Amino acid sequence: MMLLQTISTLSLLVASAIAAPQKAPATFDVMALRSASPIHFAQVSAAKGGLFLNLPHSNATCEGKSSGHATLYIEGEELVLYSCKGEKQKVFVDRSGMGQGVVRYVTGEQALPRYAELKGWATDKNKNLNFKGTGFVACPHSIDDSWSLWLDVGLGQPGGNKGCLGFTARELENKKPVGCRYTQ
Ligand SMILES: *[C@@H]1O[C@H](CO)[C@@H](O)[C@H](O)[C@H]1NC(C)=O
Repeated sequence: MMLLQTISTLSLLVASAIAAPQKAPATFDVMALRSASPIHFAQVSAAKGGLFLNLPHSNATCEGKSSGHATLYIEGEELVLYSCKGEKQKVFVDRSGMGQGVVRYVTGEQALPRYAELKGWATDKNKNLNFKGTGFVACPHSIDDSWSLWLDVGLGQPGGNKGCLGFTARELENKKPVGCRYTQ
C-alpha cells in the first residue's frame, strides 16, 4: 500500500514536471443533459458560426479522425474551439435585447457584433459549462433539423423560436483532441 502510494505520488510528480512547461488548457467536448427529451446526451457541434445539438454533419476540416463534435477549451475566460494551427475560433454570446442570448463563434480577426462578449466562460464544480453563471437553452428546427444553442437570458423561447428547452452543458474531458477548423 505504502509502496503503491509512493509510486503514484512519484508518477504524479513526474507527470506535472513534464506537463509544466506548456500547461495546455484542458480540452473537452460538451454533452447536453435534459432527461426525457430529444437532446438528452446530445453532443455539441460547431458549424456555420453557431453551436448545435443533434447536428448530423458539422463538415469541419479536421487534422485526423474527429468525432464530428466540437472540442473546446477555456483560456483566460474565453471559450475557444480546439485547433492545432491557424486562426483561433472563439465563442461569444450576445445578451443584449437584439442578441437574446445568441451563442456563436468568430474566426480570427473577424468582426464581433456590437454587444458580443467573449470573456465570462467558466466550468462549475459539477463540470458544467456556463457563462457568468448562466446556463443554456436549445431550440429545435435549426439547420439539418438540429437544435441551436442559446444562453438562457430568461426569455425561454429566444430568437422567435418555439419548443426550446433548458439543458445542462456537461463537459466531457477529451484527452486526445483532434484539431478542426469549423465552418464559418
Ligand atoms: C454538410 O454537408 C452536407 C452535404 O453537402 C450538407 O447536406 C449539410 O447541410 C452540411 N451541413 C452543414 C452543417 O453545413
